[in-house]
Amino acid sequence: MKIGAAKETFKGENRVAMTPASARELQKLGHECLIETGAGAASGFADADYAAAGVAVVKAGDLWKGADIVVKVRAPSAAELKRLDKGKTLISFFNPGANADLMQQAADQGTTVVAMEMVPRISRAQKMDALSSMANIAGYRAVIEAGNNFGRFFTGQVTAAGKVPPAKVLVVGAGVAGLAAIGTSTSLGAITYAFDVRPEVAEQVESMGAEFVYLDFAEAQQDGAATGGYAAPSSPEFREAQLKKFRELAPDIDIVITTALIPNREAPELWTEDMVKAMKPGSVIIDLAAEKGGNCKLTMADERIVTDNGVIIIGYTDFPSRMAAQASTLYSTNIRHMLTDLTPAKDGVVNHNMDDDVIRGATVAHAGAVTFPPPPPKVQAIAARKQEKPKEQTPEERAAAETAAFKAQTRSQVTLLIVGGALMGLVGAYAPEAFMGHFIVFVLSVFIGFQVIWNVSHSLHTPLMAVTNAISGIIIIGALLQIGSTNWIIGILAAISVLIASINIVGGFMVTRRMLQMFQKS
Ligand code: NAI
Repeated sequence: MKIGAAKETFKGENRVAMTPASARELQKLGHECLIETGAGAASGFADADYAAAGVAVVKAGDLWKGADIVVKVRAPSAAELKRLDKGKTLISFFNPGANADLMQQAADQGTTVVAMEMVPRISRAQKMDALSSMANIAGYRAVIEAGNNFGRFFTGQVTAAGKVPPAKVLVVGAGVAGLAAIGTSTSLGAITYAFDVRPEVAEQVESMGAEFVYLDFAEAQQDGAATGGYAAPSSPEFREAQLKKFRELAPDIDIVITTALIPNREAPELWTEDMVKAMKPGSVIIDLAAEKGGNCKLTMADERIVTDNGVIIIGYTDFPSRMAAQASTLYSTNIRHMLTDLTPAKDGVVNHNMDDDVIRGATVAHAGAVTFPPPPPKVQAIAARKQEKPKEQTPEERAAAETAAFKAQTRSQVTLLIVGGALMGLVGAYAPEAFMGHFIVFVLSVFIGFQVIWNVSHSLHTPLMAVTNAISGIIIIGALLQIGSTNWIIGILAAISVLIASINIVGGFMVTRRMLQMFQKS
């Protein structure tokens, strides 16, 4: 099929939905690629680069007419959409919640629309999650923008000219953008604090070198993460506790980056006017939620304002477009992965499989009908795997339950001991003395080994693998000593031991190598 990338017409939009690199990958799927003249220029990709990658560079009219699938960044205008005949497909951001008319138009004219923001947040779809890749850029850029407006260093320094304290940064909302901001801020050396209503992110925040802000609130953070990997609105009491904490922090914080968002709602107001007034002159607020009304009500979308007390508030809504080369590279890769799923046979033929969770979730118009909103995905969202909450127990109930558990454990241990002892006695009655010594050592090592490995937490399985590699090495030495035995059973057992231990060692090294590659910068 012919895949065409149109030039963005939205004012100030620098991104493009196809890069020369993504076009090469699309061609491997059996597709032909077209691009509108000059579409990649603002992202740093010249027409000549596309031509060198085998892409046909064509005028707008030829692109909309000639392409079977048009890829874009921003939602099309009604006039642009009209140029897509029946049976053609558009893949772009579409904002379906606020674009009912455009969606109806697509359905009426028989155009299929894949809205990139509707890709469900499930593990398999992460490579197509354009919202996350753009939010990641926005989080990074928010810190860089803050640094550009903040008159001091991020990191603390001791110089001949005096001591410089480190900047203090607070990130509100530790989703994709928030975590990217935290990572950038800590790597620049600022003391970074973060807050989120979802308690499960505290560990991630701390592992990135930031401090999680806990609330003095009986309910703890809300149990969030209820809807498709996103948070749910907080109770008024929770919000009050949250604002009280922010009021305490405000005079001390130099940079605030707010990213708090609940899908399909106005952004919650979390950084109030009195908090802005309490901040020091020269402090900076970057409000990433500006497009949805802002987490700070003084924020003006797409503007940089300075308050009377000298606090700079930035409400730009185009951070990814301000890093167009990076954003286009990531976005075009998301599109390419979507097309890979749409072309399962890699033969240049699109199979729009509406039984596929990801394709169904993202499709908002298909076969003459509006298909938005989609049904919930069959696979649960990444952060939404809800754990059953244990029922609250009284202290007496808890003590009774603990005693019962202890008794049950003792009973099973005593039973195991008696059965084990009886079996040992039985074997001892018939087996030779030399065998018994080795046999008891063998049984004990199996028991202790099992107990040790069973109780190791998942996060420590990689170091554990190094230990099992060492054990496998010892097994191989033992087996090699026995492999030449005249008894064929011993020979075969030794050979099997060498084989299994070698698989364990080689597998261990391969997994460790892959893990280390994840931490390599290039
Ligand atoms: P996300 O859904 O991954 O993260 C939002 C986080 O806010 C979640 O972790 C959620 O638990 C948290 N949250 C919700 N209510 C909260 C509350 N009351 N207090 C504290 N935390 C709360 O969203 P993502 O992808 O990180 O995007 C964040 C924001 O950045 C969105 O508003 C998005 O529209 C915006 N954005 C802005 C861009 C720009 O150029 N300005 C570009 C891309 C995204």
